[in-house]
Amino acid sequence: MLLNTLVADPVAVFAEEVRAGLSGAGQKELPSKYLYDEIGSALFEVITLLPEYGLTRADESLLRLHSGEIAAGLSAPVVVAELGSGSGKKARWILQALARCQPTTYYPIEISHSALAMCERELDHIDRVSILGFETEYLDGLRRVVTRRRSGQHVLVLFLGSSIGNFDPGPAEEFLQHIRSLLVAGDALLLSTDLLKPVDRMVLAYDDPAGVTAAFNLNLLGRINRELEGDFDLCQFHHRALYNRLAQRIEMHLVPAARQSVRIHRADCEVVLEPDETIWTESSYKYSVQQVRQMAERAGFRCEKQWVYQEWPFALNLLAPD
Ligand code: AVI
Repeated sequence: MLLNTLVADPVAVFAEEVRAGLSGAGQKELPSKYLYDEIGSALFEVITLLPEYGLTRADESLLRLHSGEIAAGLSAPVVVAELGSGSGKKARWILQALARCQPTTYYPIEISHSALAMCERELDHIDRVSILGFETEYLDGLRRVVTRRRSGQHVLVLFLGSSIGNFDPGPAEEFLQHIRSLLVAGDALLLSTDLLKPVDRMVLAYDDPAGVTAAFNLNLLGRINRELEGDFDLCQFHHRALYNRLAQRIEMHLVPAARQSVRIHRADCEVVLEPDETIWTESSYKYSVQQVRQMAERAGFRCEKQWVYQEWPFALNLLAPD
């Protein structure tokens, strides 16, 4: 008997998640992973250059400063798997440091086709580094990397950019536990996390005066129009970023200017939004260094080292399976 593998149609999954998030009573929500189509990924690259958005510069500075030390502390041979490589810029330092000691294989894992293509272009020319990208979900990609590992090879997992902050606390811990379950002694996880700082700095990073983050957020409605035949009028929505002190997170919302009735053909739904009834599109959690350590320990890691960037409080955390 032939067994058919059912591969979910990505458009059908998108439609279903949009329908679930926008129908029913209570807070309307859209999953933040859908912010990253080709336009969203390009806008995110611009966000990383904004003077108000210090995260990427902090991350890159820590990686530039400490990659040599990190590479020297790992037992060779090492392969590198990056969860959500984005444009691939952040991995450059660690790959160059490793390649000085040994030929290195780099596996960027990305759900965004355009980001993966950008990453392969960006890192194509590093001496002694070969690249094999996986266009898939993070854990599926990591599972494929560890099953390919040759005996004695260690895996360095990169989860940079404070992307962990886009998970709610329970799922963040489960996600780290999952990574932990795929690793063995001698492997490591390099995790970067944005730290708590004055509220006005945090809010400005997600509500820049040039309006790039607003465009990034609104593009999610544009994407629904393009891919799911929706009829959102983007001019009737504005971007809002707020800090939720209790939850320690920045929230991004889309706020209708007036009552809106929207039809999304391919999701087979009609949504009515009252003025000020927001669509919550993203959370970005902020941590103290102790909270990062505790989260890592609860997930089964030992925190070997934390480097903190002072100008834009941000931590690069080297974690080993406990
Ligand atoms: C990818 N992620 C860590 C970014 C963040 O800071 O939460 C996404 C982002 N959203 C708005 N600006 C940047």
